[in-house]
Amino acid sequence: MKDELQTEVSRRRTFAIISHPDAGKTTLTEKLLLFGGAIREAGSVKGRKAKKHAASDWMDLEKQRGISVTSSVLEFTYRGYHVNILDTPGHQDFSEDTYRTLAAADSAVMLIDCAKGVEPQTIKLFEVCAKRGIPVFTFINKMDRHGKDPFDLLEEIESVLGMRSHPMNWPVGIGSEFCGIYNRHRSRLERFDRQKDARQLDVEGPDDPLIREEVGDLLADQLSEEIALLDIAGDPYDFEKIRNGELTPVFFGSAVTNFGVEAFLEDFLGLAPSPSPRESDQGLIQPEQPDFSGFVFKIQANMNPAHRDRVAFLRICSGKFERGMNVRHVRTGKNLKLAQPQQFMARDRSIVEEAYTGDIVGLFDPGQFRVGDTLCEKGSFQFEPLPKFPPEHFAKITNKNAMRYKQYQKGLEQLVEEGAIQKYRTFLSGPEEIIIGAVGELQFEVFDHRMKSEYGVDLIFERLPFRFARWVKGAVENPARLQQGRRTLCVKDDEEQLLVLFDSEFFMEHFIQQNRELTFAKQSD
Ligand code: G4P
Repeated sequence: MKDELQTEVSRRRTFAIISHPDAGKTTLTEKLLLFGGAIREAGSVKGRKAKKHAASDWMDLEKQRGISVTSSVLEFTYRGYHVNILDTPGHQDFSEDTYRTLAAADSAVMLIDCAKGVEPQTIKLFEVCAKRGIPVFTFINKMDRHGKDPFDLLEEIESVLGMRSHPMNWPVGIGSEFCGIYNRHRSRLERFDRQKDARQLDVEGPDDPLIREEVGDLLADQLSEEIALLDIAGDPYDFEKIRNGELTPVFFGSAVTNFGVEAFLEDFLGLAPSPSPRESDQGLIQPEQPDFSGFVFKIQANMNPAHRDRVAFLRICSGKFERGMNVRHVRTGKNLKLAQPQQFMARDRSIVEEAYTGDIVGLFDPGQFRVGDTLCEKGSFQFEPLPKFPPEHFAKITNKNAMRYKQYQKGLEQLVEEGAIQKYRTFLSGPEEIIIGAVGELQFEVFDHRMKSEYGVDLIFERLPFRFARWVKGAVENPARLQQGRRTLCVKDDEEQLLVLFDSEFFMEHFIQQNRELTFAKQSD
């Protein structure tokens, strides 16, 4: 059993792809799944058209699709590796779940459009990875199209994200001149041809005459110079730094033409970590520990319109999961039988019989789970709580019908506990008001819809102009001084932590400068 578990853990790779909408995440995911044999044809991952619908269509879309793209956990095996890709919803589906998913990943693939460089959503997601110290692997996509200079892209990764990089391969020509990538570590030219399939040519080095023959003098000279420059001035390959999340290996390629994708997959799987130990209130929990444990990182409501059920997504952190097993639900102290676990592959649901550390299982949830809950087979420990992430949308809510006060309270409490929305209250002056915060606009819609359909409560929403929030760490004397006219709002969350909401980033930066004795954080503890 111990050996079996060790083998299973060491072959697991659980990662998320972080990117800005349109960088090519769907396309890349699809190609990865094709290599893994998990799908047979392109276009089967999720309806591209579907995700481009307006947010208001979301509920209907959910129903049509049965399972949302937001909940996809895709798994496949490739050359002995068991791969789990956690989908991080973007577009209008961007929500706190997108961040939380990163808590369940052991590494991340950062996908960048070569023409656009490092974009806002990528920055946000990268920051969460950096805070967790998980390794980030960069794939620079769309090399078949005109884009920024590769050196400028590396410079951007460093200046915008503060991350050193090491190119594992290097493009030969860009845009219309793009004719391949030179693999620095395998001394190989991967030849790109718009008309034919890609070819792999083993070479002696960047100066090999074979490269000259293939790409011509001009590009061969350029490649030779650029590789020499990288060798002298670039960051050297350093496995330890990659594993510690201090250096990102960079791969160039083109997902849509399937160019450079398989080489990336091979190198990535070799370099990416298997599941690592996880912090708990009783110390580190080792992935090879035989007793099963895991935590809930996301709850998805209304996945099956016929049953109006919820699914709690659990990341396994140790041991082996077996269907029907009995576990302890640590927060409530109850024992549960996990009889109906489901795993997800694109649109289909299938029942999981067994799973190991690093895998994700979806548990049928009649309302008993909250984001951050720990389940364990033996003992009683709690994994580190999931932080709350910076909301960007705020609204004041009031219950329309005073007769339904109890339902209002219950719905609000349950949906907040579940992690669907963040709730704050004003406390400085006047009657207490309830403010809700969300990372993505869609969370408000889902919240409103669920309050109506599940609790029969109609809400009045008053949108607030704030766009940024920072948690103020430590004790604050006289918090009233943090309330500056209409530009800020001081509120408290359910853990009594103080937050300041701001209407502009400029003002927020100014405010932070003015209050340097205080610590402002983007995430709650
Ligand atoms: P996303 O999930 O990150 O939002 O991106 P998605 O894969 O949907 O890709 C966004 C657009 O970029 C798509 O074009 C896709 O075909 C294109 N794309 C992805 N990878 C590459 C690449 O390597 N090179 C080039 N040139 N284009 C790429 P679209 O026109 O929006 O959609 P579609 O009509 O092709 O489906």
